[in-house]
Amino acid sequence: MAWYQNEYFLRRLHSFSGIFPLGIFLIEHTIVNSAARYGPEVYDRIVALLQSLPMLIFLEMTFIVIPLLFHGLFGIYIVYLAKNNVLQYKYYRNWAFYLQRITAIITLIFVIYHVWALRIGHVVYGFDINYQAVSYHLADPMVFWFYVVGVVASMYHFGNGITTFLISWGITAGPHSQRYAAWLGNGIFLILTLMGLGSLLAFI
Ligand code: HEM
Repeated sequence: MAWYQNEYFLRRLHSFSGIFPLGIFLIEHTIVNSAARYGPEVYDRIVALLQSLPMLIFLEMTFIVIPLLFHGLFGIYIVYLAKNNVLQYKYYRNWAFYLQRITAIITLIFVIYHVWALRIGHVVYGFDINYQAVSYHLADPMVFWFYVVGVVASMYHFGNGITTFLISWGITAGPHSQRYAAWLGNGIFLILTLMGLGSLLAFI
């Protein structure tokens, strides 16, 4: 059997890609955007620095586009196959399991819109990416609230994803350590959400 036909291998790769590189990128992206709280000059300087990175398109393709395409497409397959039994068993982990899938779909729609509006728009329409452009983008209340939902959903997906990652790779095996993993995942969800929402507010 070829490696790409092996579902176990693909599931491992899917799980891994959620942390490396996607989760790492999400953290970096959240930190960079929170620089908006220090004003347009600081934000524009950091964005310009990132845009001047050598081989930017190669880095974006390798660490963002290809892993996201794989994680997103295989994620849709998992969501489609999953047994969503939360209505029968209202236990905490069942809810988390269900929410992981709902936030996956919201994140997918949000990321497609966000990349289309800011990254592809930047190439197609030739506008500069800076504080003013993001501010203009978020000035529409519909777009702003859509971002609020998108940020909360993607942070939950990543935070809870850390908890499930630690379980799927056997790092937290017993109930005790899994409780700590849940605290860790929820804590990261909370911190990243506050940072993300704080950045959104800094642009309006
Ligand atoms: C910001 C981008 C994303 C990040 C950082 C991310 C991160 C993660 C992480 C860390 C996990 C946990 C892996 C595990 O349980 O072992 C995960 C799981 C999952 N992701 Fe994503 N993800 C992202 C986007 C998406 C998108 C767009 C989809 C598409 C529908 C998706 C679908 C899924 C699914 C279905 C799971 C559950 C896998 C399972 O339970 O076996 N993710 N993600």
